[in-house]
Amino acid sequence: VQVSELIAKKQSGGILAPEEIDRLVQGFTAGDVPDYQMSALLMAIYFQGLDNDEGRRFLSAMIASGDRMSLKSVTGFKVDKHSTGGVGDKTSLIVAPVVAAAGIPVPMISGRALGHTGGTLDKLESIPGFRVRLSEAEFEDVLQRHSCAFGAQTDDLVPADRKLYALRDVTATVSIPPLIAASILSKKIAEGTNALVMDVKVGEGGFLRSQEEAERLSKMLVSWSAAEKVETVVFGTDMSAPLGRCAGNGPEVAECLDVLKTGTGDKRLLELCGVLGGAMLWLGKIAKDMSAGRAEFEKILRSGDGYSKFCEIAIAQGARGTDLDDFGKCVVPEHRREIRATADGILRAIQPREVGWGLVDLGAGRRTADDPVDATAGVEFRKQVGDSVRKGDVLAVAQWSGSRDSAESGVQRITQAMELGDEPPAAVSLLKFYCDGDGLKQFE
Ligand code: URA
Repeated sequence: VQVSELIAKKQSGGILAPEEIDRLVQGFTAGDVPDYQMSALLMAIYFQGLDNDEGRRFLSAMIASGDRMSLKSVTGFKVDKHSTGGVGDKTSLIVAPVVAAAGIPVPMISGRALGHTGGTLDKLESIPGFRVRLSEAEFEDVLQRHSCAFGAQTDDLVPADRKLYALRDVTATVSIPPLIAASILSKKIAEGTNALVMDVKVGEGGFLRSQEEAERLSKMLVSWSAAEKVETVVFGTDMSAPLGRCAGNGPEVAECLDVLKTGTGDKRLLELCGVLGGAMLWLGKIAKDMSAGRAEFEKILRSGDGYSKFCEIAIAQGARGTDLDDFGKCVVPEHRREIRATADGILRAIQPREVGWGLVDLGAGRRTADDPVDATAGVEFRKQVGDSVRKGDVLAVAQWSGSRDSAESGVQRITQAMELGDEPPAAVSLLKFYCDGDGLKQFE
């Protein structure tokens, strides 16, 4: 392919032909199309967009870049979940083992940290020994034995997404709805799930500029996956503040283990897990409808079976049980910094995008594709949006390890993200809209 011609074509608003997309994705995956040309093309796509047919062709070319898993030994209707990504968005680590504890196979192929958001794979790798790059045989074995496995894109499984995802991450080209849909669905279709629950994030902490764009993406996810015989339901959910009490890889795993162990935790986090997990139990035919699914999810979570299941899976993927029971000791940071209120007032907002980029400065994400990630880097919020605070109260604690020049700016960004004022903030509902094969409806 003459990639420079394709870049020029897209720059001027042209439509890429199906064969051009196929050759481009193949060439990039094989290493024949260099990153600098792909980056330029991504930037042209960022500004000019992709139409529905171009987006679908990216999806099929990405699936075709590797193998589809057959998972012959895994009987039963497989159900997975995925999020478009947000700050503190850790629901997969809670929802997957709880749903697996009900006996539904959850074949979960996830991603790494992307832009200002975290990624399930980086979170899991903060557990010493946890391997996410499994061969297909290993993935199938863990899934068959434990009803859930956590895997990554590899040289065999959607290698095009592995490379493209890493490049979009560091070139500020994540926010392209058809490429988000192609990235997510290529992983889900190649892993062979039968149904999918999607969490599409709306607000500054995610990647979509508006609810309209989130709704457009949701319709794409539903219709493109239906064409591949995957039944997808989408929840549009709020991302105007970080989700839960912690953000950052190790700290989020600690929070999830605590939720799984005790069945309690941050209210919005638990509500979202209940909604997503309930929908999975309904799709997996364990519950007659979504609200019965949610009740069943909460029952399993409170029983501690989700915790035992997570430990089983983690041990099967290389972790040690003692590390899981005492995970706090595995991610002790070298530095901790308290962020305090400078006046009396009400915490009006925690700007998630600022927090996310602050976390990247602390080492929780990547500035360039080869950057290592610091498992201890993160922040614990001691106050949530709407809380009253007194001058001097600790609002949050930032943490990291090693010496890095950007750590100060990270602490500063997180400090600036915490907005104090006199007026209580307007209430924001967690659930915005729902979309399935019958269309899209708004929550009240
Ligand atoms: N999650 C993915 O897997 N891919 C994207 O492009 C964005 C979020």
